[in-house]
Amino acid sequence: MTKKHLITSALPYINGVKHLGNLVGSMLPGDVYARYLRQQGEEVLYICGTDEHGTPAEIAAEAAGKDVAAYCEDMYTIQKDIYERFGISFDYFGRSSMPANHKLTQELFLQMRDNNYIEEREILQYYSHADHRFLPDRYVEGTCPSCGYTKARGDQCDGCGRLLEPTDLKDPYSAISGSKDIELQSTKHIFLLLDKLTEPLEAWVATRPEWPDGVKGIAKKWLKEGLQPRCITRDLKWGVPVPLDGYDNKVFYVWFDAPNGYISITQDWAASIGQPDAWKAWWQDLEAVHYVQFMAKDNVPFHSIFWPAMLMATGQPWKQVDYIKGVNWLTYDKGKFSTSQKRGVFTDVALELYPADYWRYYLMANCPESDDADFTFAHFAAIINKDLADILGNFANRSFSLIHKYFEGRLPVVLDQSSLDQGLLTKVSTMVADYQKSLSDMKFRQACAQLRGLWVLANEYITVNEPWKTAKTDLLQAGVCLSHCIYLLRLFAILGHSLMPTVSLKILALLNDPLTESEGSTAFAAGLEFTAYKAGHLLADPVRLFEKIEDDRVAELTAQYDGH
Ligand code: MF3
Ligand code: ZN
Repeated sequence: MTKKHLITSALPYINGVKHLGNLVGSMLPGDVYARYLRQQGEEVLYICGTDEHGTPAEIAAEAAGKDVAAYCEDMYTIQKDIYERFGISFDYFGRSSMPANHKLTQELFLQMRDNNYIEEREILQYYSHADHRFLPDRYVEGTCPSCGYTKARGDQCDGCGRLLEPTDLKDPYSAISGSKDIELQSTKHIFLLLDKLTEPLEAWVATRPEWPDGVKGIAKKWLKEGLQPRCITRDLKWGVPVPLDGYDNKVFYVWFDAPNGYISITQDWAASIGQPDAWKAWWQDLEAVHYVQFMAKDNVPFHSIFWPAMLMATGQPWKQVDYIKGVNWLTYDKGKFSTSQKRGVFTDVALELYPADYWRYYLMANCPESDDADFTFAHFAAIINKDLADILGNFANRSFSLIHKYFEGRLPVVLDQSSLDQGLLTKVSTMVADYQKSLSDMKFRQACAQLRGLWVLANEYITVNEPWKTAKTDLLQAGVCLSHCIYLLRLFAILGHSLMPTVSLKILALLNDPLTESEGSTAFAAGLEFTAYKAGHLLADPVRLFEKIEDDRVAELTAQYDGH
C-alpha cells in the first residue's frame, strides 16, 4: 500500500522577514518534494507556520515598538504572503500561538507529568537589576565557552553553533540593557527528564537507518554525550502558560511548544476544511503515513531527539518522524546570512529583484545538501544566464520561432513509431527516471543537474539536426525535428513543475496545453506521451521565458547588498 505523505518544514521564527538561507533550508525543499509527490498522484499534507513564542519574538516586537501579539499578527501576514509569492504550496500555514497549540502543549505536558518525566527544580538564573527581571535564553549574552565568540546568546552560540545554557557564558550581560549588573538568583522551574528516555531514543534512532549521515551523526552525538534533564519553562509573559500553580510569571520554553505546532497546525487545517477530526489520520495512524521533516542543520537535535522524546514521554502513540532532511548553511558572500544584522538577501527583497522561479531554481541547484554553499550575485547571474536563459530558454525560443516561421505556429507532425527518434527517446527515458529518483530521494542538487542535462540534450538535438537549414530543402525532416522539440518542451514543463511552477505553466500556455496543476499523476504519466497533440495543434506566440542578468547589474546589486 502506498502511504500518505506528511511533510513539515521547520516553523520559521516570527522575528522578521526571513532570508534566502532560511528558505533554502526548509520551506523550499519541502515544497519541491511536496509538489513532486502530488504530481505523482500521491496524497500529501504539507504543513508549516510561524514559530511565535520565546525570546526572539519578544525581542523583535520590542525593537519594532509593538505589543508582541500585534507584532506577531502583522509578521505572520507578511511572512505568509511572501511564501505564497515564492509558490510554496503549503496545505496550511498556521501559527504556533493559536489556541490549539496552547491546548495541545498543556495536554502533552500533563501526560508527561503523569508518566513521571517531569520534575520541579530550584535553579539559579540571571536576574538583571537594571531591567528588574530574570533573563532567559537570548536575554543574556556573553562569551562562548567553546569558541570564544563574544556575542554568544544564552541559548546558542552563533560562532560555533553550540547549544548553551545562560550559565555557560563567560562575561555575561543583559541583552536588553547591556547591563553587567546581573546576578544568579534561585527560582523554581520545570524540567523534562530527558535522561530517562535515553534507551528508548537510542532504540528508536536505530530504526531510522536511512536518515542522512549528517542527521544521524548529530542525533548519535547527542545521545553519546548523554541526555540531561532540560529546563522547559522560561520567565516570559508571551507563550504557553504552565498549567500548574506557582508559575504565573512563567511560560513553556519555545522549543517545548513549537514542534507541537506541527500537530496543532494540522488541527487548525482540519478545522479550516470543516473536518475537525481530519488531523488524526495524519498523526495517529502510524502505519498509513510516511512523515518527512525539512530543516536547517541547527534544528536537527530538536527534531531527532528532543521532540521525539517529548512525544514518547506522553506515552501516547504519536506518529514519529520517518525521515529528516537536514540542510547545511547557505552563506552570503562567504559570511553568514544574519537576520539581526540585516546581512544578505531577504525573501521580500529577492522577490522584488527577480521572479520566484529564478530563486527557486538557483537555490535548489545549489542546495547546501552535503556541504555549505555560498551565494553571490555573480554566481546567481551565472546560473540564471547559463542554465535558464542559454540552455532552456534558448531551446524553447529556437523551437517556437522556427515553428512559427515555417509551420504557421502549428505542430508539424504527430510522431509515430516510424518517425520517432528512438535513440533520443531511450536517452530521455533513462534521464527522466534518474531525475525522478533523485526527487524521491530528496537529492535536489542532483535532480537539478539531471534536469539541466535533459535541457542540454535537447539543445544538442536541435543543433545537430539544424531544422533551420533542412526547412529549406526538406520541410518534413525539419517538421519531424521540431515536433520532437515540442514534445521535449512539454516534458520539461511537466518535469520542471516542482522546481519552477510558474515557468512550467508558462511553457504549457505557450504549447496551448490544457494540462493543469491539479491533474497530478495524469500529468506526470503524460510526460513522455508523444501523441499528446493532434496534427496541426496551434501553439501560442513565442515569448521569452527568461531575461539575462547583465554584468553591470550584478555589480550594482553586489554593491547595494554589500555584506561587508
Ligand atoms: N523557529 C525555529 C528556527 O527557525 C524552528 C522551529 S521548528 C519547530 O530555527 F519544530 F520547533 F517548530
Ligand atoms: Zn561558540
